[in-house]
Amino acid sequence: MLLASLGVGLAMSLSAANVLTVNTAKPGAPIQPTMYGLFFEDINYAADGGLYAEMVKNRSFEFPQNLQGWTAFGNVTLKDDGPFERAPHYVRLASAGHREKHTGLENEGFFGVTYKKGEKYRFSVWARSPQGKSAKLRVELVNTASMGESHVNAKKHITVDSPEWKKYEITLTPEETCAKGRLRVFLAKPDDVTVDVEHLSLFPVDTWQGHENGLRKDLAQKLADLKPGVFRFPGGCIVEGTDLDSRYQWKNTVGPVENRPVNENRWHYTFPHRLYPDYYQSGGLGFYEYFLLSEEIGAEPLPVLSVGLACQFQNGEESAHVPVDSLQPYIDDALDLIEFANGDTSSTWGALRASMGHPEPFNLKFIGIGNEQWGHEYPERLVHFVKALRAKYPDIKIVGSSGPDSEGEQFDYLWPEMKRLGADLVDEHFYRPESWFLAQGNRYDNYDRKGPKVFAGEYACHGKGKKWNHFNAALLEAAFMTGLERNADIVHMATYAPLFAHVEGWQWRPDMIWYDNSASFPTASYYVQQLYAANKGTNVLPATLDGKPAAGNDGQNGLFASAVVDKNTGEYIVKVANTSAEEQTLDIKLSGLKKKGQEITWGSVTTLSCDDPDADNSLENPSRIVPEEKVLDASGFGKVEKGVFTYPAKLAPGTFYVFKFKS
Ligand code: AHR
Repeated sequence: MLLASLGVGLAMSLSAANVLTVNTAKPGAPIQPTMYGLFFEDINYAADGGLYAEMVKNRSFEFPQNLQGWTAFGNVTLKDDGPFERAPHYVRLASAGHREKHTGLENEGFFGVTYKKGEKYRFSVWARSPQGKSAKLRVELVNTASMGESHVNAKKHITVDSPEWKKYEITLTPEETCAKGRLRVFLAKPDDVTVDVEHLSLFPVDTWQGHENGLRKDLAQKLADLKPGVFRFPGGCIVEGTDLDSRYQWKNTVGPVENRPVNENRWHYTFPHRLYPDYYQSGGLGFYEYFLLSEEIGAEPLPVLSVGLACQFQNGEESAHVPVDSLQPYIDDALDLIEFANGDTSSTWGALRASMGHPEPFNLKFIGIGNEQWGHEYPERLVHFVKALRAKYPDIKIVGSSGPDSEGEQFDYLWPEMKRLGADLVDEHFYRPESWFLAQGNRYDNYDRKGPKVFAGEYACHGKGKKWNHFNAALLEAAFMTGLERNADIVHMATYAPLFAHVEGWQWRPDMIWYDNSASFPTASYYVQQLYAANKGTNVLPATLDGKPAAGNDGQNGLFASAVVDKNTGEYIVKVANTSAEEQTLDIKLSGLKKKGQEITWGSVTTLSCDDPDADNSLENPSRIVPEEKVLDASGFGKVEKGVFTYPAKLAPGTFYVFKFKS
């Protein structure tokens, strides 16, 4: 009876044993250091209002509605002959005309000015007293939802006494925490003097690496913790612009921050149901900052530049784009960017980099030309960039595009075109449903090995219905990524997209990291990326499930797997996703352990799982889904027999595993 019921129990919970054979004697292609990385795009308030720690919106009065984000009171006038040529607007504060009245400004911040009790905030302003008289500005952090004493949570005065423009700086330390506060700046009494103010800025002092024009520490740290090998920036569609005028122009984002012009962010109106009319790019997080961040998080920088095509989704007509014979300024942008990143400090652009604080080169190796382009318009233009780049910088690797689709007419046209033009890598994009990810386990198995390498530059599993960053999507990404890893000879880079989203200001989801103004949380997809990047090893190991790549094929019980060796640590690393709803047994066989007595003496397993496939992390519960690592009990490890070590794994339903073994 007992045996019979046990037997029934087993039959119900365990499918037939699966055997994964990993050949440790045949390390294959090296895994590129760039293999797993990050794609940054200024969408969802990822830059201003996100990673860029500036707390003042429209700090230079350069939005087209110059006082957007500000509430002015008293005698305030807008002027446009300020000290910064590319950001010429400023505001004049003059007496309101009565001793009871005040003149000043309040800034609403990005979804509020959020400050914490006891933290230090650096406020700075460019100001002058046109009459040369001494004047006082009062600067406050206020909680407009509160009354009385607790209303003003920090205050200080700045004395402006010069008729010349000067930068003034103070530190504010609020006595209370406030999620939706405001910054208030006004003429202190007596106010019979006039003060001009420009570029009003407020940053937490405690930024990533302590930089003054800095990044939000929690967000930048999450990027570093992912251990990315490559960092692609500044986007996506923002590279192209809704029209050529609104394309991202890197030259506008370098040099003193005060002199960087504002650019429209196309995502403020792309989706009318998620309209954000105050979404602009200050350029404060610009190309210097992107290069610096890449360096600090240990990732190869991969800037993407316009190929002279405005976003093709929005511009069907040829006239919207740069004519082929007028591309030179665009080509110069690409050449100058390489000089900015790598050039000698005696060169024009190298000197600018040095003046910004980085005389050493950034060692740029890759450049993307065009984002998601398609049609004959693209190769027709790209060819001129390739020619110029090869002539001047033959070692720089060029990334081309295969268009917006993961397959189909344009994709089939563009890949051979990229090969013909000699692109080094081709950027593929796929935001696809669960069924697609389940079916694509061996997508790269039969790719042309003689053409460009693959950069899976934007991808994410988009779940059905209202499910977005739910666990099951992450699990299917993990499953799909075994195919990237098994094909690391041809897949050289992969970056999930988009990276960031503000909970109050997103336009696109799912995204990898979410936040409000004071906290952030990684999604399950983040952990999948992190598990791959932290365990990428050095070389692929051939791995088969019953003789075939474990790519979720028929008869493979929904199992996806890949294996690598890390020659530096001696670890064999096996990744397995059980996408089925069944518990499965899996015999992991490490074969080819030739040396006599080469026993496996240590092992560990990290799991990413969730009791509810529809659940995700949130600000309220940021650790609902987190990886868990444990060391395996090696006392139960069998001997190596005929060069084979066997580990009988029991795989829970819907779970991603990273096993590590070592002798
Ligand atoms: O990541 C969002 C958008 O998706 C990118 O801007 C674009 O490249 C793609 O269409």
